[in-house]
Amino acid sequence: MTDFRSDTVTRPSPAMRAAMASAEVGDDVFGDDPTVNRLQTQAAQMLGYEAALFATSGTQTNLLGLLAHCERGDEAIVGQNWHTYKWEAGGMAVLGSIQPQPLDHAPDGTIPLAAIEAAIKPDDAHFARTRLVVMENTTGGKVLPMDYLRDVRALATARGLATHLDGARLLNAAVEVARRRVAGHHEGDTRSAGATDALGVAREICAQFDSVSVCLSKGLGAPVGSLLLGSTPFIARARRWRKMLGGGMRQAGIIAAGGLFALEHNVQRLGQDHVRALQLAEGLNAIAARHGGGLQAELPQTNIVFVKVDAAIAQPFSEHMQAHGVRCTGSVGRYGAGLVQRWVTHLDVGDADVARALEVVAAFFARPR
Ligand SMILES: Cc1ncc(COP(=O)(O)O)c(C=O)c1O
Repeated sequence: MTDFRSDTVTRPSPAMRAAMASAEVGDDVFGDDPTVNRLQTQAAQMLGYEAALFATSGTQTNLLGLLAHCERGDEAIVGQNWHTYKWEAGGMAVLGSIQPQPLDHAPDGTIPLAAIEAAIKPDDAHFARTRLVVMENTTGGKVLPMDYLRDVRALATARGLATHLDGARLLNAAVEVARRRVAGHHEGDTRSAGATDALGVAREICAQFDSVSVCLSKGLGAPVGSLLLGSTPFIARARRWRKMLGGGMRQAGIIAAGGLFALEHNVQRLGQDHVRALQLAEGLNAIAARHGGGLQAELPQTNIVFVKVDAAIAQPFSEHMQAHGVRCTGSVGRYGAGLVQRWVTHLDVGDADVARALEVVAAFFARPR
């Protein structure tokens, strides 16, 4: 079985489990779990923030960030497909009385600056108070251009707005920007301070945001947990909200140790996931080309590959993959005529898994019809 459904499916390695089993713990609600404190301090230093807060999930750290930025009746500008808007069960509206202002994004994942500008409401009793601009990077596996992030920050500052980044896959973005810089590709990245290491790039991205949410349990391979980072007073507000939401955890050092291990060992290797995603996409397209079409993979920037499968084969193709133990997301009929599959590479997908998945796909196309 090879599981390409998400980078959330990874299981902790024996070394990560050992680090978790031997973690020093305390009661984190009292603030005295040394491993949680070390994770928070280390992550804040790593990404250039004053403080950090460990929480159960990316959904929770995004919500805590929104609650700590906005008051009842405030508004947050978001993308139509941003996780914070579409995939978090309406949490900001339900739990925070925050009005989302969703905007369409361009194919590269950016929201045009003019659209953001036009959505900012005047200070008038008829309107919600526009307070926050939210970005997502990577978004659908795409890396937002560094110049664009600077422009968003400049616009937000000029209009008195705060900025929050859903950086569930921040380090995938940073690893890819660092790779491009080393390779001399500076398109959309002309005003950089020029870090060529992933953590240096991650700090440059974070410098454009008052707060960021980073997931430890996606490509980084920890079993549980996300971090919210920001200024000391901002994190103090978020900590209160976390308590109110029932998110205070006691001997959380056991899981924080997995996060620390992930930050220490699993950042650089994200680049391997990106290479494998590209091999997968190119391999799928090569198979389709040999057989006169049937599917088309979009070439990925990081670890997420979207594959359009023709309506005529969508159902048998999905069944064939399932029967041969290759899992990905997407469902027949859900996307209109055909099927859009999402294949995600991660720590538990190696070269042999990619090769086998391509063999399974090739066998489908080679079968008598
Ligand atoms: C972009 C993005 N943000 C936030 C999240 C939420 O993370 P979690 O599943 O830990 O709540 C996800 C999860 O898939 C995501 O893809």
